[in-house]
Amino acid sequence: MSLQSGPMLAVSGLTTEFPLKGGSVIRAVDDISFTLAAGRTLGIVGESGSGKSVLIRSLMRILDAPGRIAAGSVVFKGRDLLRIGEREMRGIRGRQIGMIFQNPAGSLSPVATVASQFAEAMRAHERVGAAAARDRSIRALAAVGVEDSAAVLASRPYQLSGGLIQRIMIGLALVMGPDLILADEPTTNLDVTVQEQIIAALRKVQRDFGTAIIFISHDMGVISEISDDIMVMYGARAVEYGDLRSVVRTPLHPYTDGLIRSVPPADIRPGMRLQAIPGYPPDLSRLGGSCRFASRCARVRPPCEANDPALAEQAPGRLVACHFPLAVTADV
Ligand SMILES: Nc1ncnc2c1ncn2[C@@H]1O[C@H](COP(=O)(O)OP(=O)(O)OP(=O)(O)O)[C@@H](O)[C@H]1O
Ligand SMILES: [Mg+2]
Repeated sequence: MSLQSGPMLAVSGLTTEFPLKGGSVIRAVDDISFTLAAGRTLGIVGESGSGKSVLIRSLMRILDAPGRIAAGSVVFKGRDLLRIGEREMRGIRGRQIGMIFQNPAGSLSPVATVASQFAEAMRAHERVGAAAARDRSIRALAAVGVEDSAAVLASRPYQLSGGLIQRIMIGLALVMGPDLILADEPTTNLDVTVQEQIIAALRKVQRDFGTAIIFISHDMGVISEISDDIMVMYGARAVEYGDLRSVVRTPLHPYTDGLIRSVPPADIRPGMRLQAIPGYPPDLSRLGGSCRFASRCARVRPPCEANDPALAEQAPGRLVACHFPLAVTADV
């Protein structure tokens, strides 16, 4: 990436809210900022309800009602996606930014042929004849490791395995040659072998086309396999952000540390207990002024009850939202 061209995607202060009946507001994404360069992967990890899906749906401007973006900017290839018209946005969605949804079964028709679903994805953006559509579908399927593409194109999703359907979803996200792919839990509920295949397929696409990827998961192990940088979300905020290796080696936030410790070791033995993080995530409709991780934090001290720490740079490129980050107070 040259400094002059800047990152492909620069998100700044993104804040998304759901107004509730009675006047209160849930801030599901709270002041999130990050950058992503071509050919790189940002992994976003965090437990259920931390705001991962709302974050990427905000980038695409496909929030469920009554969600609304309250603040921030999403600069993609020099244009702020939050300040362009819906018509222009439609030309970007699917074409320049591909999306793999959290629930593939819900976004593919089970009974329409795979070929017709590919053709439809292309025709949403341009006129394309039958032969060209077929050609491009075969190439997109090849890019995700589907070899027997003639048979796959002729079949209907209900006839296919979960792993194959997930590859088709990725192929569909790729067929327009997007610069950026947003993948929301693309490997959840798949067995480990298929997970590995999907990750390998995404990596290959990235190598071949320089595609940037945002990869969401609640699984730290999966995130570690694919990411260059990682953002840890907790209760709608980024609590840690940095390059993957440093974050995994020396996590600064106690929550990140807990997530890393809860990864099943490769040599897991029957009866071995995994270390999970006790407690529950905060209720976003009833946040007090304390650190939102305080009730679960083994290291909690009075300042943590007094105010919620902002994400701040602790070391070059290492951001953490904690009054007492781990590496700095390692003697505690
Ligand atoms: N339609 C909605 N109305 C009100 N609040 C919502 C709505 N959708 C999401 N939220 C709020 O946003 C929070 C974050 O939701 P989100 O779907 O982004 O979580 P997630 O991190 O993707 O979780 P998961 O791992 O389960 O997919 C929810 O806990 C909820 O408080
Ligand atoms: Mg989600």
